[in-house]
Amino acid sequence: MQQAFVVNNGPQCGFCTPGQLMTATALLNGNPSPTADEVKEAMVGNLCRCSNYNAIVEAVVMAGENGGVA
Ligand code: FES
Repeated sequence: MQQAFVVNNGPQCGFCTPGQLMTATALLNGNPSPTADEVKEAMVGNLCRCSNYNAIVEAVVMAGENGGVA
């Protein structure tokens, strides 16, 4: 998951990144290959003041497609 965030430029300032990673990992534990819409729904409680949501969603989808890694 961390590598997928790096590849997709998920972290910007990094303030929200630990929570994003924890929520995304929990999502993949229950749904190993989520769609972008499923990621958005699961991550809705994580706010990113850098507004980097598209990259974060792409990272989580990529992690799911690759078994949890990039
Ligand atoms: S990366 Fe800056 S708040 Fe999310």
